[in-house]
Amino acid sequence: MSQAKSLREMLNSPGPIVIAGAHNGLSAKLVQEAGYEGIWASGFEISATHGIPDANILTMADNIALARQMVDAAEIPVVADCDNGYGNAINVIHMVKHYEAAGVSAVCIEDNSFPKRCSFYAGVKRELAPIEEHVGKIKAVLETRKSKDFLVIARTEALIAGWGMEEALKRARAYADAGADMVLIHSKSKEATEVKDFAKAWDRKTPLVCVPTTYDSATVSELHEAGFKMIICANHALRSSIKAMRETLHTMRKAGSTGAVKDMVVPLTAVYEIIGVQEMKEQEASYLPSGGTGVSSIVLDAGYEKELGSLIEDKPRAMLDIRGKTILERQIDGFNSANIKDVIVVRGYKKDAINLPNIRSYDNDEYESTGEAVSLFKADKELNKRVVVSYGDVLFEQALLEKLLRSSADITIAVDRSVSPDASSTGRDFVLIDAPAVERDSVRFLPASKPSVVRKIATDISAKDASGEFVGMMMLSEQGCRILREAWQSALSKKTSGKFHEAQSVQQAKLTDLLQEVIDQGGQVQAVEVYKGWTEIDSFEDYQRAWATIR
Ligand code: SPV
Ligand code: MG
Repeated sequence: MSQAKSLREMLNSPGPIVIAGAHNGLSAKLVQEAGYEGIWASGFEISATHGIPDANILTMADNIALARQMVDAAEIPVVADCDNGYGNAINVIHMVKHYEAAGVSAVCIEDNSFPKRCSFYAGVKRELAPIEEHVGKIKAVLETRKSKDFLVIARTEALIAGWGMEEALKRARAYADAGADMVLIHSKSKEATEVKDFAKAWDRKTPLVCVPTTYDSATVSELHEAGFKMIICANHALRSSIKAMRETLHTMRKAGSTGAVKDMVVPLTAVYEIIGVQEMKEQEASYLPSGGTGVSSIVLDAGYEKELGSLIEDKPRAMLDIRGKTILERQIDGFNSANIKDVIVVRGYKKDAINLPNIRSYDNDEYESTGEAVSLFKADKELNKRVVVSYGDVLFEQALLEKLLRSSADITIAVDRSVSPDASSTGRDFVLIDAPAVERDSVRFLPASKPSVVRKIATDISAKDASGEFVGMMMLSEQGCRILREAWQSALSKKTSGKFHEAQSVQQAKLTDLLQEVIDQGGQVQAVEVYKGWTEIDSFEDYQRAWATIR
């Protein structure tokens, strides 16, 4: 439904429509967040935030740019304060075309003559346009608008100008009879009595609007009861921000440090939340090419896999040939296709056999007595940007890697949800995640679910309980690298001997132990859920199967 239509529906439904003043996208979002029915694109606020008086100094083009910003920033209707229509009825015709096209739901035009003066400035020249002139403007709106949902609010300044109640009523009646959708009676009285008297005398069906700025003790329900359909809280958010900015600036200046105002400001993350940084992250993951120059990959291939026996007598497992291509070459092909050109291998066992031209390498020469975590941090220098970490024995389908790359989380692991409940669980890295289980017999290769949070990753989870199996592939953001490093360093400093999760010692920690440490320390590990699409080669049977299935 268009915003104009929803405002029109509110107009035809019971209850007050309370709208609040804003002057740009951010303040519009705050009005929406606070639950108002609509946004008042206030001329007072827009002028003030330009640092100039509200007196037709800004042009229509200036004002509409901000109104459009508010429409774009929020989903609730925007009611635009269009002063006196920026000129005569001819100006109004063009004004309506532009405001309606900008997505504004209603325009409010007042009977101040051009150039206007803000209703509250005391002691300034104040003149009202002749009634016929203002009626002409209202007719111009009605005949120009494309949609009947687009509202015109006719506003009289007769009480503001001191022309009296009779004149106010006379003007308001003329505007209502010309077809205005609503009539705004403005007042600068300290008491609501003036607008209430007006409402009492009102003898047209056209709904009324008021702006309780000076008569500020009047409540919404009281004004609604008195006959007002729309109530505009015109400029309070702006005024509160001036107070807050002043206090913050003075305090910070006096203290000489920004920390002095820590409690007076919202955290940066609150700003990110309002403006949609998380959404942008997700859009990056969805629409920007995955991989790319900013991403590198680290293949952990230091260890000796005794199950592979004589197959790896003279080379590490990543150099095992499967139908004319080694596992490592197949991995590199996969990374390159995802635009990851920087492949780093951590070598150990038979390291000299890893001699491909298009890789860089680090060595874990203590591979016999240490685990994958030690291997990973041999390449610590590389853990400073987005990086995909994979085991040296994993063969993966391209879609799996692409799915991992689309994650916007700091630490993401690929989890295969195709585990059969009665499968053997010995030595397998199973995962418990906080997400509804997928159907076991799902035929979908890659379920489109969002990444879910990992609660536990270990070999002592049974196949029956497991949400899935760790594929041996993980992606870290720059922040994820930092989180993992901090967990590792704190583990190293705390536990020089004794078990570390499922490892005999910290030195022998596997990636899974390190990930569990992150989780236990309150960090978040997310799972990208996949359904098959990978295989690991850590036994002779695996190797045979790979020969049989891989092309
Ligand atoms: C505005 O907010 O610009 C208005 C309402 O027109 S008032 O300032 O109260 O006149
Ligand atoms: Mg105004």
